Amino acid sequence: MFTASEIRSTFLKFMESKGHTIVASSPVVPGDDPTLLFTNAGMNQFKDVFLGFDKRPYKRATTSQKCVRAGGKHNDLENVGYTARHHTFFEMLGNFSFGDYFKRDAIKNAWELLTKHFMLPEEKLWVTVYAEDDEAYDIWNKEVGVPAERIVRIGDNKGARYASDNFWMMGDTGPCGPCSEIFYDHGEEVAGGPPGSPDEDGDRYIEIWNLVFMQYNRDDKGEMHLLPKPSVDTGMGLERISAVLQHVHSNYEIDLFQNLMKAVKEAVEAAGAENVDPNSPSLKVIADHIRACSFIIADGILPGNEGRSYVLRRIARRGMRHGFKLGARSLFFNTLVKAVAKEMGQQYPELSNPRIQEVLRQEEVRFSQTLAKGLEILNEALANGEKLLSGDVAFKLHDTYGFPVDLTADVCRERGVAVDIEGFDAAMAKQRELARSQGKFKMAQGLDYAGAPTNFLGYETLTVHGCKVEAIYKDGEIVDEAESGDEVVVVFDKTPFYAESGGQVGDQGQFKNKTTILKVDDTFKIKADVFGHMCYVAEGSVKLGDLFTATVNEDIRAATARNHSVTHLMHKALREVLGSHVQ
Ligand code: SER
Repeated sequence: MFTASEIRSTFLKFMESKGHTIVASSPVVPGDDPTLLFTNAGMNQFKDVFLGFDKRPYKRATTSQKCVRAGGKHNDLENVGYTARHHTFFEMLGNFSFGDYFKRDAIKNAWELLTKHFMLPEEKLWVTVYAEDDEAYDIWNKEVGVPAERIVRIGDNKGARYASDNFWMMGDTGPCGPCSEIFYDHGEEVAGGPPGSPDEDGDRYIEIWNLVFMQYNRDDKGEMHLLPKPSVDTGMGLERISAVLQHVHSNYEIDLFQNLMKAVKEAVEAAGAENVDPNSPSLKVIADHIRACSFIIADGILPGNEGRSYVLRRIARRGMRHGFKLGARSLFFNTLVKAVAKEMGQQYPELSNPRIQEVLRQEEVRFSQTLAKGLEILNEALANGEKLLSGDVAFKLHDTYGFPVDLTADVCRERGVAVDIEGFDAAMAKQRELARSQGKFKMAQGLDYAGAPTNFLGYETLTVHGCKVEAIYKDGEIVDEAESGDEVVVVFDKTPFYAESGGQVGDQGQFKNKTTILKVDDTFKIKADVFGHMCYVAEGSVKLGDLFTATVNEDIRAATARNHSVTHLMHKALREVLGSHVQ
């Protein structure tokens, strides 16, 4: 039996024997392409070569490319765990011709590899061609000998399913062209019909290889321009072809995933889960997500709240939640980086970087502080048996408990409940608007405070117990208390929060006691020695005299301090090089 690793190397060596140069995978973070969130196909790193802007010392190349399809045009995040063959991260085996060979060699090479080297029975293979592509049809039929009944013509159905309509586009713009796909028939015991038939979505006929005949560049107006030379871009999912060659139906049954899922089961059990069913879909989700997270971090992304960083956070937290669902009650997710490295580190040495696990550990620590409580709130909201979760609850989970909305939707989906996404978006927009209209300057203006100065402890510690509420301001007016949902400025007798001064921004973090959470978005000085904390009452209520434990967000403080120090260093250096006029 071929292991996934052997399939990868057999592919690359076969293509090398056909004159292709083996090129390393590019990072999952595209170097210089603002149209892409993540690398989503093998051809991405050759986009400019196809367009004729970039020259390489070879005209034929072959790769095993790291791809992420989570966010952006090709997004499979929601399907992971629910189907047999969707992944957020996968490897795409590909061969490319840059104005060298075209349809004939692309088709013949693919057929030779599948039938002579991988020994797939010809009668198990079906092919599709673009409806008007008589040339490809004739090559398959007359030269390769695939009988007409196993060749299907499929038109382009732009917009709906980019990858399966026989006209492949990387995104809204860029190189594209008609394609010919090769399908494997998993046998009549599996439900599903041939490509192009009404039951094509079943699992019986699975697309394994896509041969794209790159001919056009689509511009941002949707117009097609001919490429300098007709080219070839093929892509075969390593996990799918491995499933075929290992005689299993699901990608999760291949050696690589079985090993990973075993490691996941051990890790969640070490973290408190009991007797985990080895076939649990959650094991698949975690195995998939830890691969994606490991590779994304290895290529330089950190979890955060925007863009790629937020995609990473969403994948990581979704994986952690599935561990919790299985019963894990301590950290486990980050420990799995080692298992990924064991399976794939030989091909991808970047996985040995110890930073990957450390970054994930920090993210896991952070999320573990709110995960259980957030799930409790979600459970309460779902207890009424309604089939729609309100946007406000989804927003509260997002805002206070760090639940990305797709994580909430994932939990809801398990119980047949949908999430009111429109309501969620509206709550989000409302909060943004509020933040804008109540800018901190406006809130600080004219606040009247006659009490004692604030005792600032933030150089010694980031956590202080027993901080007493001395004053609360709402909409610029002094008030005695504030409720959940209010935005207020609070003064305490002591604080570890640094207030904006000397060009360093104020701290963020939270004040918490048994009933109340105050989220601090910023800290500033009301007077030279009185610190105002801009708080959002995320839970409970707050009144004068209440006691809280203050916790500064350590990561943000450290980053702020570093930025601030660097600004000074930069300033000093600029003054030395350019002169003392630099301000
Ligand atoms: N770019 C095509 C795909 O992603 C073939 O590699 O399917």
